[in-house]
Amino acid sequence: MTTKPAHILVWDGAIRLVHWLLVLLVPLLWWTAEEGHMDWHKSLGLTMFGLVLFRLIWGLIGTWTARFAPMIRRIGSLGSYVGQLRRKAHRASFGHSPLAVLSVFALLGALTIQVTTGLFSVDVDGLESGPLAVLVSFETGRQFADIHELNFNLLAALIALHVAAITFYHFVLKEKLVRPMITGRRSRVDFSDAQLPETRLRVLPMLSAALVSFACVMAISNFG
Ligand code: HEM
Ligand code: HEM
Repeated sequence: MTTKPAHILVWDGAIRLVHWLLVLLVPLLWWTAEEGHMDWHKSLGLTMFGLVLFRLIWGLIGTWTARFAPMIRRIGSLGSYVGQLRRKAHRASFGHSPLAVLSVFALLGALTIQVTTGLFSVDVDGLESGPLAVLVSFETGRQFADIHELNFNLLAALIALHVAAITFYHFVLKEKLVRPMITGRRSRVDFSDAQLPETRLRVLPMLSAALVSFACVMAISNFG
């Protein structure tokens, strides 16, 4: 008789690597913009663009817990999940909980707006600009820069909410979410015995997504 391992893979390596690179890059992007290190800002910004694009493609062709379609279906059980949370009777979710799905979409949406507007932004004296700003007029480039600035505040607020929610789960609901985002694994007993989806990283789709993202970054960086 074969015994099942005590831990099960929830997050593949690509999701985890992208996540912790986002955590590293957002403060660096803020800092480089504040300090006027615009060459660094644009290089790191393009790297961020590549990561976000990769994550969006991975949401279509990646492992089960990375894919958007099952996440969207989960939103249907949001009401009952919130009810369980209020009674402190919720069960661990395999992948993002219905509530986390909303936060993931909000974060990825804000990140997408941030990297896209950055590509077309022009600063007030026209000295610094994203690589695609040559495609738009100075006024339009300034409007992109305004959205870039405004949206950064939204992104920062969403990140604060995200970290507050994870802290709440940790201390109040006693569900530890950070370690699985590092190791990828959770204890099997957290989940009912039903058949769980496969989350092992498939190398070919991962390399294809990485290659497409890299090619887009290179094409854009050669534009300006
Ligand atoms: C710049 C700051 C951050 C950004 C932009 C960010 C963004 C994200 C995104 C997009 C996801 C979804 C993961 C995916 O499906 O690809 C996520 C999940 C997650 N993040 Fe963050 N994050 C940030 C900071 C943090 C920090 C500081 C922590 C740890 C305290 C953290 C812990 C987690 C955890 C545990 C999950 C999984 C949540 C779940 O179980 O559903 N994040 N984050
Ligand atoms: C998540 C990714 C990014 C973050 C968090 C971010 C953050 C910021 C912040 C906080 C500012 C200062 C806004 C202000 O106070 O005026 C800024 C300005 C700027 N960013 Fe980004 N940025 C990102 C991506 C990019 C990308 C991909 C590019 C282009 C390759 C870019 C190009 C610029 C430019 C040209 C400015 C100057 C705009 C101005 O002076 O009005 N950024 N960014």
